[in-house]
Amino acid sequence: MRKRKYTRFAIVFLIPLAFVISQCFDKNKAADPRGAAYAGSASCLKCHKNVEQNYLHSAHYLTSRAAASNTMHGSFVKDSNQVILNDSLKIVMEKHGDSLYQAGYIHNKLNKKRPFDITFGSNRGETFLSWVGNEVHQLPVTYYISLHQWANSPGYSTDSANFSRVLSARCFECHSSFIKSISAENGSPDQLDKSSLILGIDCERCHGPAAEHVDFQTKNPDVKEAKYIVKISTLSRVRRMDLCSVCHAGNSNVMTKSTFDFKPGDTLANFTSGEKFHRAQDVTKMDVHGNQVKLLTSSLCYMESNIECTTCHSLHDTKVKTVQTYSQYCTNCHSEAKHNFCKMAAQIGPAITSNCIDCHMPLKASNAIVIVGGKQTAPPFLARMHRIAVYPEETEKVREWFKAAK
Ligand code: HEC
Ligand code: HEC
Ligand code: HEC
Ligand code: HEC
Ligand code: HEC
Ligand code: HEC
Ligand code: HEC
Repeated sequence: MRKRKYTRFAIVFLIPLAFVISQCFDKNKAADPRGAAYAGSASCLKCHKNVEQNYLHSAHYLTSRAAASNTMHGSFVKDSNQVILNDSLKIVMEKHGDSLYQAGYIHNKLNKKRPFDITFGSNRGETFLSWVGNEVHQLPVTYYISLHQWANSPGYSTDSANFSRVLSARCFECHSSFIKSISAENGSPDQLDKSSLILGIDCERCHGPAAEHVDFQTKNPDVKEAKYIVKISTLSRVRRMDLCSVCHAGNSNVMTKSTFDFKPGDTLANFTSGEKFHRAQDVTKMDVHGNQVKLLTSSLCYMESNIECTTCHSLHDTKVKTVQTYSQYCTNCHSEAKHNFCKMAAQIGPAITSNCIDCHMPLKASNAIVIVGGKQTAPPFLARMHRIAVYPEETEKVREWFKAAK
């Protein structure tokens, strides 16, 4: 299901990309809104074809995109295209020609209607943004892919159809490659320059500005070694963790500078007034959603070994992994031979190696994403706990599961 959808994404995105690439090698290409130090993702394709082809299917690339019904999971078909908030109020997802709208109805009378302009989220939820002048407003209804339903956007109440929640550049710092704030010019904090927006998390968002690298490698095709690009593999673990922390250490940190300026190798704490991104003060209060860095760094595995995000996640390989594949990363470090294996091993038997995850990294409900579905009830939004530890209540469930599977 998911695979099929992505193949369709690929068709939709590859054609425009081919066009962009052909434009890109044109001498008169439009300047990158981030400045001349940036080359733009399309220019990497020539030499990094394999990386780029995987990247087009990645959650990072797809996390923000122009809203279009063929890259959306929610239905616009009558009756499955609405959220009934209460007896008098409903929101309907409507398609008129090529244009998509969310429309609020009070007692079946149209009250407000706004277009879908941008989709945020690719894997588990899609929320939608609409331009109103220089402001971006979040639309009231989100599609929860894992729950297969349209429902209230997180934090929205069920007694009004709110079309005017203004989003700041902060959302874009984690869900896109760039947007320019024009706040300084008119005093309002949330005025954004639409023409500067670079959708998706592109190569240079993670690798830093690379125009000089492209220029050098193009002029020196015989040089097989990379020049003028940060070598992430040579950074210390803490600096590599900082790169992921830009977006995966929660949203409660008070930033003093835009993280659009962050480059690999930078110290993220310098973008704040002294925030700590590693180790949560109180992990029991930490939400499982989007806090992977703080949770992982609070695990004994992190404190006692060199484990990091890329131990389990390869950024340029989008092959779908199962709990079994993930468990192999655990058994690389934990085994009978190393005398640090699971104490449950004797009880469960050899099958234990097929699933370390559900006991030690269980799925947990997010408290940050609570869906008040109006007349529809919604199951909780689940995320993978990244604090690797012993969870007695999960152990019981998984033990039963192993017994049944025998
Ligand atoms: C003209 C060819 C060329 C272009 C265009 C190019 N690169 Fe490279 N790049 C290379 C070569 C050659 C290497 C070294 C061999 C390798 O690692 O593949 C390299 C290596 C890299 C590395 C690995 C560095 C390391 O050792 O860890 C990164 C990251 C990278 N390039 C990013 C980019 C990005 C981002 C772009 C587009 C903005 C880009 N490259 C465009 C030729 C190119
Ligand atoms: C600029 C922000 C940003 C940076 C930097 C970033 N991520 Fe992400 N990442 C995201 C967002 C946003 C999502 C959710 C994408 C979605 O589903 O829409 C995501 C999703 C993911 C996923 C889930 C992928 C999937 O297929 O479901 C993994 C794993 C991940 N990131 C790992 C990393 C690692 C490891 C690093 C550091 C090397 C990193 N990310 C750096 C923003 C970022
Ligand atoms: C979400 C962050 C992120 C994005 C987006 C991203 N990369 Fe990477 N890339 C990394 C990290 C982290 C590594 C180091 C891999 C590791 O240590 O496992 C890496 C490694 C590489 C390497 C060297 C090793 C390899 O795996 O081939 C190249 C070349 C590269 N990236 C090119 C690109 C290009 C080209 C793009 C855009 C099409 C891109 N990257 C997009 C984070 C990213
Ligand atoms: C500090 C970085 C950060 C900020 C700021 C941020 N997000 Fe996210 N967001 C993430 C990450 C990381 C994920 C994936 C998290 C996960 O799966 O645990 C995510 C997930 C999502 C998803 C679900 C995507 C999916 O498929 O899992 C949506 C929708 C979303 N964010 C919308 C927003 C909106 C709207 C804003 C602004 C109000 C915002 N985000 C601000 C980092 C951020
Ligand atoms: C890079 C090596 C490494 C990887 C990968 C790794 N661990 Fe660990 N883990 C350790 C080390 C070292 C400790 C410290 C105790 C010890 O030596 O056994 C530890 C501790 C633990 C503990 C005890 C936690 C506590 O709070 O008492 C559990 C449980 C655990 N690991 C499970 C796992 C599971 C499950 C995975 C895979 C999801 C995993 N580990 C992946 C190295 C690793
Ligand atoms: C020991 C292995 C391991 C390590 C280390 C690890 N993850 Fe994960 N991660 C997982 C597993 C397992 C899943 C669940 C995948 C699935 O269900 O398909 C996951 C899922 C995710 C997701 C998708 C959201 C979700 O809740 O399913 C994101 C985002 C993510 N990881 C980011 C990170 C980041 C950032 C780091 C580093 C701080 C990291 N991970 C370190 C194993 C790991
Ligand atoms: C059915 C649930 C379950 C599964 C599956 C499971 N564990 Fe455990 N694990 C536990 C529990 C419970 C404990 C604590 C037992 C105790 O302290 O008596 C534990 C303890 C551990 C410890 C700490 C041992 C110590 O010396 O303190 C490690 C390491 C560990 N498990 C790793 C793994 C790995 C690796 C896998 C997969 C091969 C795995 N576990 C599979 C439930 C599970």
